[in-house]
Amino acid sequence: MNMKSELERADEMLSKEDSSQQKINKLMKKREEALLGGGEEAIKKQLAKGKLTARQRIDLLLDPGSFTETNMFVRHNNRNFGLDKKKVYTDGVITGFGQVNGKLIYVYSQDFTILGGSLGEAHAKKITQLMDQAVQNGAPVIGFNDSGGARIQEGANSLAGYGDIFIRNVRASGIIPQISCIVGPSAGGAVYSPALTDFVVMTEDTSYMFVTGPTVVKSVTGEDASFEELGGASTHSSLSGIAHLVGSDEIESIELIKALLSYLPSNNLEDPPLKDTSTINGYVLEELNSIVPSDPQEPYDMREIILRVVDRGNFLEIQKKYAQNIIIGFGRLNGHPIGIVANQPSILAGALDINASVKAARFIRFCDAFNIPIVTFVDVPGFLPGLDQEHNGIIKHGAKLIFAYAEATVPKLTVITRKAYGGAYIVMGSKHLANDMNFAWPSAEIAVMGAEGAVQILFRRELAAAENQEDLMTHLKDEYAEEFNNPYLAAEKGYIDDVILPCETRHKLIAALWPLLRKRERRLNKKHGNVPL
Ligand code: HXC
Repeated sequence: MNMKSELERADEMLSKEDSSQQKINKLMKKREEALLGGGEEAIKKQLAKGKLTARQRIDLLLDPGSFTETNMFVRHNNRNFGLDKKKVYTDGVITGFGQVNGKLIYVYSQDFTILGGSLGEAHAKKITQLMDQAVQNGAPVIGFNDSGGARIQEGANSLAGYGDIFIRNVRASGIIPQISCIVGPSAGGAVYSPALTDFVVMTEDTSYMFVTGPTVVKSVTGEDASFEELGGASTHSSLSGIAHLVGSDEIESIELIKALLSYLPSNNLEDPPLKDTSTINGYVLEELNSIVPSDPQEPYDMREIILRVVDRGNFLEIQKKYAQNIIIGFGRLNGHPIGIVANQPSILAGALDINASVKAARFIRFCDAFNIPIVTFVDVPGFLPGLDQEHNGIIKHGAKLIFAYAEATVPKLTVITRKAYGGAYIVMGSKHLANDMNFAWPSAEIAVMGAEGAVQILFRRELAAAENQEDLMTHLKDEYAEEFNNPYLAAEKGYIDDVILPCETRHKLIAALWPLLRKRERRLNKKHGNVPL
């Protein structure tokens, strides 16, 4: 028998320990390398631009200690243009999952310090795997976009990677909420993944999105434009409407994402999260009785009403600076999330134009997809007249809003505060589009049009022949207003469910919402409708 001496056995143990320690050390070294991204110099450059690192962004978003990283050691396998000398763990995107206020969230964060966050085959695969898991497990995806776009050295493989992401964005749409946070460049075709997601959050001064950059624009159209002018946060929040929310810095952008998530269910099969708002005090609802001015031409701020009706401090306005003639946002009624759509009489008298119609329509479709009841506040004189609006298609864009309201099966409640004229009355969450419960204030005017326009059409000849046109006009206008500019004709026909005191609005809406939370509405099966795009 070949017996090992005590000494030999001890030596063997030590060398085994050595080799397992070596393996542990090797892993720790690789982790360290991965955590360092593109290296200290590149991180310094990133921070000097006023940006955070990809990992800092994830840390700020997720509950402390909740992040599980996936595919940390993925690297590309490409040799073109010296790329084999730039093989870095993560391949320029950190992926994984964690929790935000205890709820499961999938997150990817592009790392600009590695090849400019550019997207190649391996980078794209990490994102698509994450999206597949998010859909499978029914949780939102948040993407931090900080990238030079398609990785030039990987050619068509990079483009294919974008295609693989786009198709998943579309398939996940309406199943899980998708939020894009732009925290650096997002250029070329790369902008279309954020555009396909539900919400785009941008950061002032450090983020920009455009299909073609300033140099190409200059060479093609001769126009001079800075990065900021072409696609910065202020451009996209006020002119194009691409950005739904804007943070003054990345920390604020991330806080906005968290606030947004607090109103959303994790997926389309869940109800939105209830919040205990029972301890909120300080409602002075009588103030509502005097907000609408007695002169129908006088503007007022619809936010003054919204803020008094929703649970105090629970209103997150979306696309605040874009198409300001309509207000959209999330609120809560007795703790239950709602989506709010409201005409804004202080901008364009609250008239519906192209941008307002599209803004509200997409929001309504989001709420409907994710079981969020819609509450509409109406003060609308009609669609905005003019060549510009007609030539640019107010007909098809206005139709989008009708489509969205009519298609929505979530609970739908409406409050008419003042004007509800003509086609716009029908569009703005009327009973005729299958709304569930509609209220009007005593100041409501539900009519084909305002008194002045109606009198001019109906009494054109009489006015032309009158000795004192002004007196006759005033008399006829008063008569018309008395007869038609009120809520009672519509109430008699059941087109509204009740005329209520303004100060009763909050309680009436809460009472109306309660049974509707059990609402089940089935429509005939079809592949999909044909929204007038
Ligand atoms: C490979 C890239 C890259 C890219 C940047 N880098 N973009 N590498 N592919 N697309 C690398 C740079 O070479 C550099 O590497 C490092 O990232 C940092 O970039 P800098 O230029 O030093 O940074 P900065 O000065 O901040 O400028 C950022 C930038 C610029 C404006 C984004 O890098 C840029 O213009 N990049 C190209 C943008 C672009 O045209 N992308 C293709 C878009 S078309 P080193 O080694 O020097 O540190 C597209 C099609 C998608 O994306 C189609 C989808 C269907």
